Amino acid sequence: MKIIIDTKENVAKRAAQRYVELLANKPDAVLGGATGSTPVDLYKELVRLNKAGEISFKDAKSFNLDEYVGLEGTHDQSYRYFMNDNLFNHIDIKMENTHVPSGIDIECPEKYDEEIKAAGGVDMQLLGIGVDGHIGFNEPGTPWDSLTHIVELEQNTREVNSRFFSSIDEVPTHAVTMGIKTIMNARSIILMATGSSKAEIVKAFIEGPITTEVPASILQLHPFTEVYLDYDAAALLSK
Ligand code: PGA
Repeated sequence: MKIIIDTKENVAKRAAQRYVELLANKPDAVLGGATGSTPVDLYKELVRLNKAGEISFKDAKSFNLDEYVGLEGTHDQSYRYFMNDNLFNHIDIKMENTHVPSGIDIECPEKYDEEIKAAGGVDMQLLGIGVDGHIGFNEPGTPWDSLTHIVELEQNTREVNSRFFSSIDEVPTHAVTMGIKTIMNARSIILMATGSSKAEIVKAFIEGPITTEVPASILQLHPFTEVYLDYDAAALLSK
């Protein structure tokens, strides 16, 4: 695992440069997308670079990590809406090449893994991390061999995410998420974490044991993972 520590602003800029390099070498790369507060600055930088002509997404494809069950893509808290609003509507990616798991058609979630495979597999998967160590919506205890599946959200995750809804009762109880194996299948991974609320879990997943109790700890075994941290999120690392 390679660890990059910088200011919050520079972390977004440096992660964006990984997209510039990847798409320069492989214009039709498959990008794994993430939502949440953490990638917002990165997406702003990608929009800026795209408008400046320094990166093109016109042949790229994308597959997002997860979606709330029960929310249509037009719901302003759905992750489809988030991606369109923060990134896809502002760059030259073709909308038909963007994929977010459906929160409505949830009959056969593993189909998503087949679609990723058919597209050639994810070249670079972006991840945030929850304070409990979740990646995507893979909460503690998720098996390492999981593919895309439906999960019941932990109360803590619903509480943390309730800031985006008018009350906790409106936060969906279930989500569909790429599994741990889906994520580990990506050729490369970028995990970003910023802010002091992430410091403890950052230390745990990088320096602690590999355990399903800390889902992100499995990334210690991924051959090409980069972790981008701001100084607050990195504060408890021992070296
Ligand atoms: P955040 O969420 O970026 O809003 O902190 C990260 C996550 O829960 O994966």
